[in-house]
Amino acid sequence: MLNGEMGRATQKAMEIIVALGDIYGAEELIEISSVQVAGVSYHNLGDAGLEFLNEFAEDGKVRVLTTLNPAGMDLEDWKKLAISEDFANKQKLVIDAFSKLGIITSCTCTPYLIGNLPRFREHVAWSESSAVTFVNSVIGARTNREGGPSALAAAIVGKTAAYGLHLDENRVPDVHVDVKAKLKSISDWGALGYSISKKAENKIPYITSIKRASIDDLKSFSASLVTYGAKPLFYIRNITPEKAKRPANKVTITQDDLNGAYKAINDEGEEIDFVSIGCPHASINEIAEVAKLLNGKKVKAEFWITTARQTKTLADSRGYTKMIEESGAKFACDTCLAVAPLKGRFKSVATNSAKGCFYARGTNQMKTKLGDVAKCVDAAVNGRWN
Ligand code: F3S
Repeated sequence: MLNGEMGRATQKAMEIIVALGDIYGAEELIEISSVQVAGVSYHNLGDAGLEFLNEFAEDGKVRVLTTLNPAGMDLEDWKKLAISEDFANKQKLVIDAFSKLGIITSCTCTPYLIGNLPRFREHVAWSESSAVTFVNSVIGARTNREGGPSALAAAIVGKTAAYGLHLDENRVPDVHVDVKAKLKSISDWGALGYSISKKAENKIPYITSIKRASIDDLKSFSASLVTYGAKPLFYIRNITPEKAKRPANKVTITQDDLNGAYKAINDEGEEIDFVSIGCPHASINEIAEVAKLLNGKKVKAEFWITTARQTKTLADSRGYTKMIEESGAKFACDTCLAVAPLKGRFKSVATNSAKGCFYARGTNQMKTKLGDVAKCVDAAVNGRWN
């Protein structure tokens, strides 16, 4: 591969993998079973990124199951989201290049909900920080936090360099976090991720005193924890599958910490012109909850439910789509509030995602409100945060 005997794209991909292995002192390459590629939105890639992809697509093909992170728009119904035609045309060229490489153009950050589901201890090469954290922790598979180009290179090679979180010695938790706060909603899990990150920056937490956690809770927690500063791996005693020893160094998260997280994330002001649920992409359970809350109501604010297209198909067949769309809310498949070109369009967003708040504030310069899904639906209906 490195000599170019298997084509130019494979050679370039192998050069990237070898360079990373050299930098991080890897002794060997390891086989991977799947890849998740981030860096899909034309908004982030620009023409230089598109050119980079097209070069790979000239003679390159992925060697393992490879799925894609959200794009900058709903690939089928982008007009509904007021995306410009110029942007849509460029975004389609990006998707065409990925498709030519043999990648499944799934465009979701929850690939584990739609068929890219590794086994415990399997090695993978995923980018997208929430998915990386989920797959390392909740599933117990192994990946570093890849960038878009390194994930793509691993997909083309079918292997990655064995360093970082692929190795046992780098997966040891280094702070014990005892959670004394009550977790009643997905947004509480996001606030928990924020609180732990502030006390365990760049560390791997081993968490105790949590008795229950749904997949939706854990995907929200995975997103928030890594966004606000911890490493993309956590352990929750009796919930996550990988065995680990409890570290001696202990911190406690109290209700005050959780309240402090809400305070830090929530900006002043009550007016809300944008609401977004589905960061990480909404599961069918979350969509069902939104549909029931919206049933028979009309929204004032622009309201996006961001999800995988496959999940929306399920919502169509269950009647949830009708209930949601009759209220004026919209499905935004294949995309999300962080990667769609939203800067300047909205002033204040309400969401149940702590990660969503980070990007809405940082990338799109919106004011942010974090609350549970009922509070977000209420904000959409009234155009205010009560
Ligand atoms: Fe997914 Fe976008 Fe949130 S990629 S985790 S919905 S910021």
